[in-house]
Amino acid sequence: MSEPIRVLVTGAAGQIAYSLLYSISKGDVFGKDQPITLLLLDIPPMLSILDGVVMELQDCALPLLRAIVATGNEEVAFKDLDIAILVGSMPRKEGMERKDLLKANAAIFESQGKALEKYAKKTVKVLVVGNPANTNCLIAMKFASSIPKENFSCLTRLDHNRARSQVAMRCGVPATYVKNVIIWGNHSSTQYPDVHHCLVKMSGNEVACFDAVKDEAWLKGDFITTVQQRGAAVIKSRKLSSAMSAAKAICDHMRDIWFGTPEGEFISMGVYSTGNPYKVPEDLIYSFPVQIKDKTWKIVEGLAVNDFSRAKMEATATELIEERDTAIAFLAK
Ligand SMILES: NC(=O)c1ccc[n+]([C@@H]2O[C@H](COP(=O)([O-])OP(=O)(O)OC[C@H]3O[C@@H](n4cnc5c(N)ncnc54)[C@H](O)[C@@H]3O)[C@@H](O)[C@H]2O)c1
Repeated sequence: MSEPIRVLVTGAAGQIAYSLLYSISKGDVFGKDQPITLLLLDIPPMLSILDGVVMELQDCALPLLRAIVATGNEEVAFKDLDIAILVGSMPRKEGMERKDLLKANAAIFESQGKALEKYAKKTVKVLVVGNPANTNCLIAMKFASSIPKENFSCLTRLDHNRARSQVAMRCGVPATYVKNVIIWGNHSSTQYPDVHHCLVKMSGNEVACFDAVKDEAWLKGDFITTVQQRGAAVIKSRKLSSAMSAAKAICDHMRDIWFGTPEGEFISMGVYSTGNPYKVPEDLIYSFPVQIKDKTWKIVEGLAVNDFSRAKMEATATELIEERDTAIAFLAK
């Protein structure tokens, strides 16, 4: 067995972490032969709750889990990291404006970016989950300038999985028979779930999604809004935001970074846009179709983009530019 890798999860006393930590610790992400040291960060008022999570992880008696460090101190949490999964963030409180939420989180991700720069390994892979995930990721990246920009990504895999499942349910096939959906842009309601390049396995053959579903109006209408609004629908019903499905998506995202994407398939993740083939504005963390090999992602090139898609890709970029500029203006003060 190899040396343990050091994996940080922030927001470790929260509800996503409660599902995520078990999956990571039993080998779902880094494989069944990879021992793990878990570093768990939360804010000081949550540390007594975090103690309970640590006890439960110990009580799972998992063979790969070699050590657990629970802390409220960033220096301890970010030391020598191989992997940083940044889940913790300031939630939107009643009456709070979006601008104020952006500011509160910009401050958190400035601090965590600096901690990555100072304490983590330069090879660390950073996944930002806490919302607004794209902009938080951009801020952390900007304050960790000695870590390659390609090592940063944000989670849009939950949206990707939602899109996949909606198509699968419509066609009456398992979700794994649907591949190459794309989430473009922001992890917000402006995201664009695109099925123009999606394939569905029907009776043993791969068929274009539009031919499999045979309902263009649905694919260009309710399908898109259902995926865009799915997070809000879960909150309305559960009175809590998506946690089990978010944890599963984090595992899917990180496992693909670690082991690569399957041949002929692409997945969606938020990555740094610079000189990309789709003319998305630069200096954003924007969700693209990517393939991953040797722990390195590459944006899938050459996919046709029609006017319908172009307008939606631009709308979500416009929102990301506004978020970025608000966060940066606040940090500059
Ligand atoms: N990108 C996505 O697809 C996606 C999906 C679902 C949820 N989310 C986001 O993930 C985040 C966490 O969701 P949750 O349901 O686990 O929330 P939660 O409120 O249950 O847990 C969040 C935890 O983060 C902690 N925290 C706050 N500030 C922190 C800081 N500076 N350092 C470390 N920990 C800190 C809190 O104390 C809390 O324990 C939210 O921002 C949510 O909106 C993103």
